Amino acid sequence: LRVFGQPHVTIDLGPDSQSVIVIDQTLLPGSFEKKSLRTVAEAADAIRSMVVRGAPLIGVTAAFGVWLALRDDPSDAALGAALELLGATRPTAVNLAWALTRARRELLDVAPPVRARAALALALRMANEDAAACEAIGRHGAALLRRRFEELGSPETFHVLTHCNAGWLATVDWGTALAPVYRLHDEGVPTHVWVDETRPRNQGLLTQWELAQHGVPCTLIVDNAGGLLMQRGQVHACIVGADRIAANGDVCNKVGTYLKALAARDAGVPFYVAAPTSTFDLGVASGGSIPIEERSPREITPDASIGAYNPAFDVTPCRLVDAIVTERGICAAHTDSIERHLKPS
Ligand code: MRU
Repeated sequence: LRVFGQPHVTIDLGPDSQSVIVIDQTLLPGSFEKKSLRTVAEAADAIRSMVVRGAPLIGVTAAFGVWLALRDDPSDAALGAALELLGATRPTAVNLAWALTRARRELLDVAPPVRARAALALALRMANEDAAACEAIGRHGAALLRRRFEELGSPETFHVLTHCNAGWLATVDWGTALAPVYRLHDEGVPTHVWVDETRPRNQGLLTQWELAQHGVPCTLIVDNAGGLLMQRGQVHACIVGADRIAANGDVCNKVGTYLKALAARDAGVPFYVAAPTSTFDLGVASGGSIPIEERSPREITPDASIGAYNPAFDVTPCRLVDAIVTERGICAAHTDSIERHLKPS
């Protein structure tokens, strides 16, 4: 998408073909700066410290991290160590484990002298696939949102609420939950987005920034305002991303998502989830088994004398999810529907 009118992606090979260039998301929205990653340790640190963030983007960053490791040492031992280092950075988003499992599968049998080249080709392929998946999510999700807009009699403004940042900053391009919003806006539907601030890391500021860069009308709200707006009929649909979706359709996403889904159900507002198929984890039967990242209490308050607890994600039960949008189309948050949806075509 565009920043100050120029097209950008969130991650790319450096012009010297020796480094990986990312946007330093810890500086946004105050300043838009790129940062180069030259070693696997730098890639791991970028994921851990949320220089790069968002489930799909951390998966792709990890794939580039594997390349950086193998460029320095293409041995089996170095591959194993890189997978371990990168895999330990953040626990909840399954796209990270998914990307690393794929890297192991595709690289272990490649002869060490050509392994780094294969790793780079894989990382670039994964980046392209992610952008294509998000573009497709945008198409399917926009059709879903448009149906809702038309069912409501095409109101003067179509109000969508989102939580966290599931925009292009969380992916390589387009985003997951925001891809349908961009598309709808571009198609001329008068869309406005209520943007949850998303304490404590304020990912809502990233969402507000990227929507504004694209010219989508949006309004920042505190995390607790959504319920009131839904009760008043000021929200026509909720759409969020996901960090991991269990086999039964339970959705793990940024903490606070569950409360929005509860309020949405009470107010009769549809609650949609948008994510690529790499976000499904059929190895976990239900959301209760998904590891929830606990981050530093200092993200909540710098005052070390105050007791604070900072779980970064929560689980929305499948019964509160009206539809899941993936690059393949729409599926219900239900075991059978998910199984059918994910069947190799
Ligand atoms: O902790 P983050 O910022 O990496 O959280 C991930 C997210 O951006 C959200 O949970 C998002 O909704 C899912 S990723 C598209």
